[in-house]
Amino acid sequence: MVSIRPFAALSLVALAVACGGGGQETPPPAAPPPSAPATATPSATPGATPGATAGATPGAPASTPVSQPGPGDWTTWTHEKKLAWMKAGVMPKMHGVFAGYDASKYSDITCKTCHGAGVSRGNFSMPNAVRPKLDPTPDGFAKLAKSNPKMLDFMMKQVEPTMASLLGEEPFDMKTKVGFGCFNCHTKK
Ligand code: HEC
Ligand code: HEC
Repeated sequence: MVSIRPFAALSLVALAVACGGGGQETPPPAAPPPSAPATATPSATPGATPGATAGATPGAPASTPVSQPGPGDWTTWTHEKKLAWMKAGVMPKMHGVFAGYDASKYSDITCKTCHGAGVSRGNFSMPNAVRPKLDPTPDGFAKLAKSNPKMLDFMMKQVEPTMASLLGEEPFDMKTKVGFGCFNCHTKK
């Protein structure tokens, strides 16, 4: 994705600067002609020569490693960082949770299972209309508790708290009405 570029450029510059600092003892392997230093010299201005240094470190990862957000961190993260954590942390964990509930039905959950068809257009906004819309009234929940108690239990005791912790948030609290809950994923009827 195009938007990942600034990260790559930054880390490349950082690498270049870091290597440049101790460069006296070990000369660069493929020395450029001394008359043309412009492309090889790391620039002091970040982002000034992204194209020129790109070939120098082919192994540099495009994404920085991410780990679980702490309390309050999630909302401060960039789109790129959120996306990286969705892939590295959320997806494997939630796949296990859903497959543990019903392996045949949820053996192949994907980003789309939660994010819907918008995924193909790069739209990850939540909540969305993919899953059943839920009736948010006490009546609605009472009905659900009758019609599908096992699913309600699973959503309340596994999906909600696991997802909340993956985002560094607290599960929804009925008393304070604060926290990550059903309606962070499902839309209301
Ligand atoms: C189990 C459900 C679930 C799955 C599976 C899932 N996500 Fe998410 N994702 C969420 C929730 C919930 C949020 C919203 C968190 C919030 O309230 O901000 C979110 C947020 C995001 C965001 C941030 C939204 C934004 O506008 O920046 C991105 C990006 C994202 N997901 C990408 C992905 C990708 C890519 C995958 C597949 C590898 C994936 N998600 C799989 C539940 C899921
Ligand atoms: C992290 C996102 C997330 C949260 C939070 C969440 N759900 Fe779900 N829910 C899902 C996904 C994903 C499915 C499966 C959709 C599918 O099968 O395509 C689902 C399915 C359901 C279904 C339909 C099950 C079926 O038999 O098809 C019900 C009912 C439901 N959820 C209720 C709830 C309730 C009630 C809560 C709050 C206690 C809740 N969910 C919280 C993601 C979530």
